[in-house]
Amino acid sequence: MKTTEIKIVVQEYENRSELPKDDQLLLTEARRITALAYAPYSGFHVGAAVLLANGMIITGNNQENAAYPSGLCAERVALFYANANYPESAVKAIAISAAKNGVLVNETVKPCGSCRQALAETEVRYETPIRIILDGQNSIIVLNGVESLLPLSFSKRAL
Ligand code: THU
Repeated sequence: MKTTEIKIVVQEYENRSELPKDDQLLLTEARRITALAYAPYSGFHVGAAVLLANGMIITGNNQENAAYPSGLCAERVALFYANANYPESAVKAIAISAAKNGVLVNETVKPCGSCRQALAETEVRYETPIRIILDGQNSIIVLNGVESLLPLSFSKRAL
């Protein structure tokens, strides 16, 4: 038996102003689109802003449904729109924000497993690491690739 330790690197910022300017801009967009989410069932509003290699920022938010599983998370709404409309452009970064009752959540928002898998697919597709910025009132977390969100992930490399 052999035990291997897998390390992930997490950068934590106490203040938004400490972030690089590009990250701040992406966060501003994520926060803006969070407020427009359609989440009447959970009351949990999520927004995502995706930066493409062509310089465009694509945004999305969670879209819920009375038939609960028919809804979709903010990250995949933004990511799939970006991939559908700009398939030639790699995804460079994503900022994710969330709010309850109109107030930014205290703890950094963590993407669900399905969104992590969708991010992993996009990273492999464009062979470009995706910078991930997770928003919160207390701190902001930055990861320099999906590997830090989803180690040991499944991808086309296994097929
Ligand atoms: N949600 C997201 O939009 N992104 C995530 O990563 C986690 C959860 C949404 C789905 C649902 O509309 C609400 O948050 C509560 O789960």
